[in-house]
Amino acid sequence: MKKILIIIASVIAFLLIVALGAFLTLKLTPQKIKVQPVVFDMGNENYCVLFVTSLKGSGYIKYTVNGEEKIIWDTTSGTISTHDTVHKIIVPKEELRGNTYVVGSQFVAYKLGYSAIKGDTAESDPIKFRGEEKEDDIKLLTITDIHEMEKSVKKSLSHFNEEHDMLVLLGDITSDFGNKSRFTKHVLADAAFISKGEIPVVNVRGNHETRGEYASQMLQYFPTDTGELYYTFDFGSLSAIVLDSGEDKEDDHVEYSGLVDFNSYREREYSWLTSLKAEDFTGKYKIVFCHDPGIDEHFGKNWLTPIKELGFQLLVGGHYHKSMFIESEVPAFVACGKYSGGWAASSLTLKDGTIKMLTINTEGEVVLDKTITVE
Ligand SMILES: [Fe+2]
Repeated sequence: MKKILIIIASVIAFLLIVALGAFLTLKLTPQKIKVQPVVFDMGNENYCVLFVTSLKGSGYIKYTVNGEEKIIWDTTSGTISTHDTVHKIIVPKEELRGNTYVVGSQFVAYKLGYSAIKGDTAESDPIKFRGEEKEDDIKLLTITDIHEMEKSVKKSLSHFNEEHDMLVLLGDITSDFGNKSRFTKHVLADAAFISKGEIPVVNVRGNHETRGEYASQMLQYFPTDTGELYYTFDFGSLSAIVLDSGEDKEDDHVEYSGLVDFNSYREREYSWLTSLKAEDFTGKYKIVFCHDPGIDEHFGKNWLTPIKELGFQLLVGGHYHKSMFIESEVPAFVACGKYSGGWAASSLTLKDGTIKMLTINTEGEVVLDKTITVE
């Protein structure tokens, strides 16, 4: 009898310790917003808002529409996702444009079959999102090849005085996706600090971002209509194609360890590109964004030919670690980023039938200033 009582007391003590531990864990590890929201434009009627929290849990966006508060959750087929620290919420563009929003997340320690153990909730400050789709005077910030040089980005951007309408990340923001934090601490955190969650962001994949085990997993956060990282989008009088130039060497290159199949991917992408119709691009300005703009001879095909046939006026990319304007079948602008001896940011201004390309380095020196007429 005495032995049974000791066992019962031990079990109760163990359960109390577990409960106390769970209680302290919930109270002493508050949920935090680690990366503020980024509003991605993926070419359809919705934005995809991504943000990162310190602990896994639910994710939501909250704003007022037609006088009523609306909450949209990060869900998968009706179930609120609680397994991840990266939260993905799909929001109608027309509801977010010009509106103020907050994002939030509640820590969910355990989601059991018939109950859940939940902690506290973290919420961002209110953010006023612009996202205005202008008919003219559109200002794009075109940032490429950060390669972990975030301090230089801040310095370069301090020399741009204008307010931008959209941020285009042109790839190689980080040097590889070996793990999740490479994605959250660089691509998402950089997009958040530059855009402040106030303007839409377009993400173009660089060749370095095809590398590492997390490279295939990050695709889950970019739900484009094509299911791939190539798509089209319209932003006011800008009609754009986003291309994914993939890796920059043949599939059998030793660096890839036999673990890529870009030949098949490029074939699918090229067929998609050639299936596009010129009449679907009605914007006054027509720009292709592609990390590697050297696609006049892209693994055996000249991709500029279909781009020209579609009426596109300019190709914008990075990859070459310099700022350049290249006269070609379709002229190209290389937006710099990291270069030998420094780093530089670039912008595009679409105004009065012209496109102005500007590159400024960390010292405030104008590296390139070129305007072309497109009408
Ligand atoms: Fe690159």
